[in-house]
Amino acid sequence: MADVVLGIETSCDETSAAVLVGDRRRPELAGLVILSQDVHKVFGGVVPELASRAHLGALPAVVERALAEAGVAWSAVDAVAVTQGPGLVGALLVGVVYAKALAYAGDRKLIGVHHMEGHLFAPALEDPDLAPPFVALLVSGGHTLLLDVPAWGRYRLLGATRDDAAGEAFDKVASLLELGYPGGPAIERLAAQGDPERFAFPRPMRDDGYEFSFSGLKTAVLRAVRASDDIARDRPHVARSFQDAVLDVLVTKLERAVRATGYRTAVLGGGVACNRTLVELAARRLAGNARVAVASPRLNTDNAAMIARAGWHRLALGERSDWTLDARADLPLPGLEPADNPQSAIHKQSR
Ligand code: KG4
Ligand code: ZN
Repeated sequence: MADVVLGIETSCDETSAAVLVGDRRRPELAGLVILSQDVHKVFGGVVPELASRAHLGALPAVVERALAEAGVAWSAVDAVAVTQGPGLVGALLVGVVYAKALAYAGDRKLIGVHHMEGHLFAPALEDPDLAPPFVALLVSGGHTLLLDVPAWGRYRLLGATRDDAAGEAFDKVASLLELGYPGGPAIERLAAQGDPERFAFPRPMRDDGYEFSFSGLKTAVLRAVRASDDIARDRPHVARSFQDAVLDVLVTKLERAVRATGYRTAVLGGGVACNRTLVELAARRLAGNARVAVASPRLNTDNAAMIARAGWHRLALGERSDWTLDARADLPLPGLEPADNPQSAIHKQSR
């Protein structure tokens, strides 16, 4: 009988469940439901208490829908994979407790998954031949990680952010420009109409190493917004120059990592990898050296399919979580090997 894995993701503001079905090496995505919590739009950011309550209310129905979409009965599910961390601890707890209860009551296998390992596995859902070695740039609302991945499950941290994550910078600049939350998609849309020459923003740490820093860039945008005598006119130009600066820094470091490792593949993942301009820029700048592997936007934003896929990999290796599995806001990435650069560290484990 084919393996069936149910995935559950509740680390932030999407309530998601997915069903993977298939043989050991090439699981197929049979069902995926992503319910975005609109309530946070009113507050301009995620309110943790409201996120937990919304997960609690929606999760049973979201799981049912994913199973129905897949045409799979609960009795056919072999294992439950759930995001253990990092993320908002109350939000994570809802998914972890629900997954544990399901697995315990049904005597099924359970596996806790690291949210960023989920993002790393997302492209493999659509590209089953994707295999290490590769470099990976994972860019979300809480993390900016540049990894050397010699094998699935083995991660060497090349660089991380010293302050804001890339997605966080998009969200904060969007808020300065009064574009609402989440900011990434709004900035990308507006930037398409902007003139890249009207504003010049710094490209922090572009020319050295693998680490990132985005808070100075955010401050530069704040100054430009305050100095503008017509923000309605300048908004698209600010969005354009801000996005150009962030993407240039991200892709420059990705390019550096590809050169240093000699790998022929670069993986992009996380919510910021929904940005088409980022994907196109990376593909253009790496052409001839490496191909860019990236999932479609639905699988780059937070979703349970990527969690099920990463869980699938660990289950196939014989790994299991026991009933003591607990949500952890600051869960370290499993398989992280000591970096050569002692200054490298994951500074942003949670928002
Ligand atoms: O991975 P994700 O869905 O959630 C976290 O794990 O944080 O990433 C969300 C982040 C947000 O900061 C959002 O603004 C950003 O991804 N994002 C984008 C785009 N779409 C989402 N950033 C830039 N351009 C986009 N098109
Ligand atoms: Zn995420």
